[in-house]
Amino acid sequence: MNPDGITAAVGESRPRVEGRRKVTGSAHYVADVPVPDLAHGWMVTATVSRGRIRDIDATDTLAQPGVLGVLDHRNARRLNPDAGSYFGPDRSLSLLQDEVIAYAGRPIALVVAETPEQARAAAAMLRVAYDAEPHDIEFSMNHPAVRPASTLFGPEADTGDLEAELAASTVVVDEVYRTPEENHSAMEPHVATAWWEDGHLHALDSNQGPFTISQVMASLFFIDRDRVHIRAEHVGGGFGGKTICGAQIILAAMAAEHFERPVRVALTRRQVFLATGSRPPTEQRVRIGADAGGRLRAIHHHAAFALSPLSEYIEWCTEQARTLYAAPAIRTELSAVPLDILPPCSMRGPGAAPGSFAFESAVDEVAERLRIDPLRLRLLNQPVVAPVSGRPFSTRRLVTCLQEGARRFGWAQRDPRPRVRREGNLLVGTGVAAVAFMAGAFPASATITAEADGTFSVRIGACDIGTGARTALIAVAADALGVGTEQIHLYIGDSDIGPNPGAGGSRGTTSCAFAITETAKALREKLADADLPVTASVDTTPLINWQPGEERYTYSAVFAEVTVDPATGEVRVRRLLGMFAVGRVINPLLARSQLIGGMIGGLSMALHEEEVRDPVTGRLVTADFAGYHISAHADVPDIEADFVADYEPQDPSGFNGLGEIGNAGTAAAIANAVWHATGTRHRDLPISLGRVIEAAAAQDRPEAVSVA
Ligand code: MOS
Repeated sequence: MNPDGITAAVGESRPRVEGRRKVTGSAHYVADVPVPDLAHGWMVTATVSRGRIRDIDATDTLAQPGVLGVLDHRNARRLNPDAGSYFGPDRSLSLLQDEVIAYAGRPIALVVAETPEQARAAAAMLRVAYDAEPHDIEFSMNHPAVRPASTLFGPEADTGDLEAELAASTVVVDEVYRTPEENHSAMEPHVATAWWEDGHLHALDSNQGPFTISQVMASLFFIDRDRVHIRAEHVGGGFGGKTICGAQIILAAMAAEHFERPVRVALTRRQVFLATGSRPPTEQRVRIGADAGGRLRAIHHHAAFALSPLSEYIEWCTEQARTLYAAPAIRTELSAVPLDILPPCSMRGPGAAPGSFAFESAVDEVAERLRIDPLRLRLLNQPVVAPVSGRPFSTRRLVTCLQEGARRFGWAQRDPRPRVRREGNLLVGTGVAAVAFMAGAFPASATITAEADGTFSVRIGACDIGTGARTALIAVAADALGVGTEQIHLYIGDSDIGPNPGAGGSRGTTSCAFAITETAKALREKLADADLPVTASVDTTPLINWQPGEERYTYSAVFAEVTVDPATGEVRVRRLLGMFAVGRVINPLLARSQLIGGMIGGLSMALHEEEVRDPVTGRLVTADFAGYHISAHADVPDIEADFVADYEPQDPSGFNGLGEIGNAGTAAAIANAVWHATGTRHRDLPISLGRVIEAAAAQDRPEAVSVA
């Protein structure tokens, strides 16, 4: 009960308010919304990885039925080359501006016709001639072009005397780990419908933050942000791939202006792979030194990732090394390698997911070499304060996650030796990994009106990309106003509502809940002496503490049990348990569902997902779900996520975000379990059939038996 005697909605499991509409088809996604006089654009993408367009011959295309025209660099309007994102100017957004091609998949033309079928057929007849130049897509942390990554997220760590501590260590693990280029693969492909009216741009767009996208579009098109109106009512997943301003909305807006009609650009699955960002490949060297008793003395994590020269980006793999364990010396380094590839962007626990795979594998290797239980090693090295900054943690329930997870998982019965547990032909193993994910809140604004009929209209520019944000925020608003959820009308997904960070960085719901809570407070003060309706608005920008005295993270311990068939190379995850400390949970049903989804993403990363480029052409050869494997239902027989009691003191309601932490620790737990099953340490993801078979064959050769 809250102070007004109404049952609190926060903390209660409730199904998504729009769930029924989604499963019955009446919730409209962008491509479902009818727009009169709509024309359709078909995106044409470059087939060379580097070079120039010599000529585009549209003669046949223009002769096809229904074709309105072709937009390319010769007739497209000028865009602002300085427009960009959080990371700075992003030249990948300046579409159709010149003949230069910086990656295969770069959109180079838009064919516009009366129907999508006509546009597609006509686009197939567009003749593009290229002057190809040699490309470089070969990623390695030793690439000659390697350079320090941007320090926009803060400086890397360097505490203590690393080399001295390594020299004084009883064991030193020094290994290199690799993760491939990956694609977000949201269920709903990117799609936008745009039209212009009296100098105002209107668009329906599948994205993760209508307000932030409206800022980028305003900058790109040299107009005031107030003249850009973007809506994203329902979005079929994002995973980071819809945080950036997508080619679909840029091209739709350009074409709508040019042809003076509403234009829709809907990407195919292949185009999503080719043209909408990816997680960059990483290569990571981890050195960890420990004494005989398992105390860590030195941690060195050097991570490198690929990016495009068109835009800055940070795959922040080094967060775990500075957060999870105490050690007298900790050094992190982050390097970027510019290549002729699709510009990467944030994906499902950016940095943390590949970073924790490398780092928590290395920690496991320390336990292996010291013959110490890997859970015990982790518990033994827990820091009292943040190991690098020396600041306290605002809340840190990682030990509880590890211990409670171990109890439920049955860790105490585990034989620590690898390759000893067999069931028929199968090798069985278990593994654990810990993970921390940076938490916080971004500025947001909310407006609440107390209506004359006793209901409350809550307006916030949040974006529900399938997480249940809408449902969660209704509960937050109801509690903050001291009313039942049925009295709340929530309006989201519209850039006109006001500044909002969108759904990203695991901070969407936390940021919006903060704004709603503060607005409700302001409204209740006004309500006392006013006639209805009464409205209050709050922007939390001045309320955000950017320099808190304490470090703020969410935590998780993930436990995995796998079976490995050494003959077929097949790894099956049999059990997966995640214990999470994510602050006060708003809606356990939806939070659990989101965390399980994240864990499945981690499983998919561990075993399946890999983008492959043809070295000769530089093109993706896995640009569909036949070539790019992601986990299906049958891959996860038994998966469980649960919470430990937690409260975030930096948030007025005790909340923290949980969008990405489900993903982040899972791949390491699975890789550690595969080692336990087989005795082979897989340091390259994914742990594919081929890699497992090769390792099994190597183990059968006498000279290689010393692996375990
Ligand atoms: Mo997230 S990868 O910031 O959508």
